[in-house]
Amino acid sequence: MSVIFTRRSVRSYLPKPVEDDKIERILRAGFQAPSAHNKQPWEFLLVSDREDLKAIAGMSPWAGMVEKAPLAIACCADTERSKFDDSEGAWWVQDLSAATENILLQIEEEGLGGVWLGWYPDMERVKIFSARFALPSHIVPVSMIALGYPAHPHRPADRYDASRVHYGRWGVSWEESRSGA
Ligand SMILES: Cc1cc2nc3c(=O)[nH]c(=O)nc-3n(C[C@H](O)[C@H](O)[C@H](O)COP(=O)(O)O)c2cc1C
Repeated sequence: MSVIFTRRSVRSYLPKPVEDDKIERILRAGFQAPSAHNKQPWEFLLVSDREDLKAIAGMSPWAGMVEKAPLAIACCADTERSKFDDSEGAWWVQDLSAATENILLQIEEEGLGGVWLGWYPDMERVKIFSARFALPSHIVPVSMIALGYPAHPHRPADRYDASRVHYGRWGVSWEESRSGA
């Protein structure tokens, strides 16, 4: 899947709206994510109103790009739906992270660019976002994604680091094991 290797965070966008068919495919990718006990606890809030986007940009010191993005997607967890018998754990954080990454990959596939903005567990950020957008208390905004047509091309980054791949036991290099060293 080549988009895994070409995706980068895109933080500046052309002033051009994202077409509805692209938005739908992007959301479909989010819904396809794996989730603990297959609970699929995601809910997505699309925001394209300029005043709302400006407000989101002001909610985090690292969300300035949202102000000029044509669209933001708040990836939220329904913490009620995520509940299952054998665990009190907040598995929904991982579920929503998987959905967020799927969405970012589909954004790349569509020729668009996006950036993941961490929201939960910064409770101040969660609180002000929830208040402005009328989220019920069991719905938690886990991540925000700003997206649009990229203003500039982006370059892939190769981050493979063989020294961080262990084999069988911690500290045994897979690379060395393979080469028989
Ligand atoms: C949990 C999480 C939170 C992030 N929060 C922000 C953020 O608030 N603002 C931002 O500009 N980028 C944010 N990023 C994007 C990272 O800065 C970016 O993924 C990282 O620098 C690697 O660059 P790349 O995405 O271009 O590969 C976040 C990424 C993750 C996974």
